[in-house]
Amino acid sequence: MGASDNFYLNRRSVLAKKMKNHPIKDEHIDLIVKAGIRVPDHGALNPWKIKIIKGEKLKITDEEVILSEFKKINPQASDDMLEIESKRLQRASVVLAVLSTPVDHPKISKWEMALSSGAVCMNLLSCAQSLGYAAQWLTEWYSYNNKMLEYLGGRLDKDQISGFIYIGHKAEEPTERRRPDPQKVISYL
Ligand SMILES: Cc1cc2nc3c(=O)[nH]c(=O)nc-3n(C[C@H](O)[C@H](O)[C@H](O)COP(=O)(O)O)c2cc1C
Repeated sequence: MGASDNFYLNRRSVLAKKMKNHPIKDEHIDLIVKAGIRVPDHGALNPWKIKIIKGEKLKITDEEVILSEFKKINPQASDDMLEIESKRLQRASVVLAVLSTPVDHPKISKWEMALSSGAVCMNLLSCAQSLGYAAQWLTEWYSYNNKMLEYLGGRLDKDQISGFIYIGHKAEEPTERRRPDPQKVISYL
């Protein structure tokens, strides 16, 4: 296999707003989450959780959490803005919310636990993309909202939302985005 057909050298995200949101096979969701939790995890502490949001739960979460919190924070919001917030998760077929849930440990730092949670996000994203799905890792404002954190089962002041992995279907192949200049970020010691 040459570099040109290497999955990791070609993998790209598809914007959530460009996805098609018809359902995804449950067996693929199972596969993606199983792959997602196969990550480096110092001490095997499993300091993360995945909440699968699909079907009617997408609409319910959009309306009862995202839109309702947005209205509270932005009482002057225009109808156009409310329309966007009312359908955030429904852009996707399934959304995987990843929580960083650190534990107290005498030797392993919370930083390492947070890194492991990021690895879960990246694994979920890559696995979905390897199956040919459109996928994107987003935080947006509601990753930093306490009502959302509690709704997903997180503990206030302890856990954090690492991101929402949006997964849907591709309407078209994405165009390449600006990539880092290897010479600026990679060097030999
Ligand atoms: C933690 C994290 C949060 C992100 N949140 C957002 C976001 O809220 N809005 C956005 O437009 N892009 C966000 N992005 C960037 C998107 O994931 C973007 O699609 C990505 O940079 C594309 O990378 P890729 O094509 O290499 O997969 C975020 C990325 C990360 C790692």
